[in-house]
Amino acid sequence: MGDVVLRGMVDEEEIIPGMRSSGKDRQRKVTETVVRNTGIPTAGSAKLNRIEQRYRQRRESGSPGWTDDYTGTEDELRDFLTRNGLTAAGNFLELGCGAGNRTIIAARMGFHAFGIDISKEAVAWANAKNAAEKTLAEFQIGDITSLAAFQADFFDVVYDGGVLYMITNQDDRRNCFANIARILKPGGFLYATAHLANIGFHERFEMAPDSWYDPEGRFTTISGEPAYYFSTEDEFCSEIGKAGLIFVRIKSYAEVHADRPFHAGEVLADARRPI
Ligand SMILES: C[S@@+](CC[C@H](N)C(=O)[O-])C[C@H]1O[C@@H](n2cnc3c(N)ncnc32)[C@H](O)[C@@H]1O
Repeated sequence: MGDVVLRGMVDEEEIIPGMRSSGKDRQRKVTETVVRNTGIPTAGSAKLNRIEQRYRQRRESGSPGWTDDYTGTEDELRDFLTRNGLTAAGNFLELGCGAGNRTIIAARMGFHAFGIDISKEAVAWANAKNAAEKTLAEFQIGDITSLAAFQADFFDVVYDGGVLYMITNQDDRRNCFANIARILKPGGFLYATAHLANIGFHERFEMAPDSWYDPEGRFTTISGEPAYYFSTEDEFCSEIGKAGLIFVRIKSYAEVHADRPFHAGEVLADARRPI
């Protein structure tokens, strides 16, 4: 296990809003409830409405984006570019760009930078920041499992802005990695991240009413809907490999979460489409 620290990507509230912080209740097993692991939020769904509301509230409250702290975001991107010998030229895509903070950093560095997000509110916010900062990033409302707006062999870099763990359904995840491989240029790079599952943890673990960890599907729910996926390192490698990408580097670090015993850390992967 390494010692990489992912700052500005995960916050407690992001895992489960209203999560209880302590008490025996948290150990309570949830009554069996069947959850359809449908994944991608559709227009008007409770899941997408919750994301839209989060962006509206955060924008109104003066927050910089999905989370409050983007310390380290630029260093994380620079480190990725440096260790892979990439120059800030060419086409860059941030997956799940939210309010556009990473995409705008990439544009400022010199990339032709694109961001995609399923949230209209997020993309409107990203466009407003882009205009205010006079950067030339381009933002698109869309789903990262299809990436339909983007042509094949186009991107030098596809960068996970912290969204791959939001794809909870296996078919969706497969489509997502296949489409990332499709839009990368031969030789182009992917930066991908995942939440690591504590594979020894087999309980349905309740965090708030209608929100629990499902050990079979390895996802948490919010209001009974799948929200965040927890991978094993082997599975994550295999997903990327099956899409035809080759690993350049894989780094995991362990994290203990008293409130989330099913969560064992993070995994960060640099991968490349073969030339
Ligand atoms: C953890 S947030 C990170 C946002 C941004 N990268 C940042 O660092 O602030 C994940 C983002 O992924 C978006 N998202 C979730 N599912 C998506 C999907 N299937 N396609 C595109 N974006 C998605 C959410 O709307 C949210 O903005």
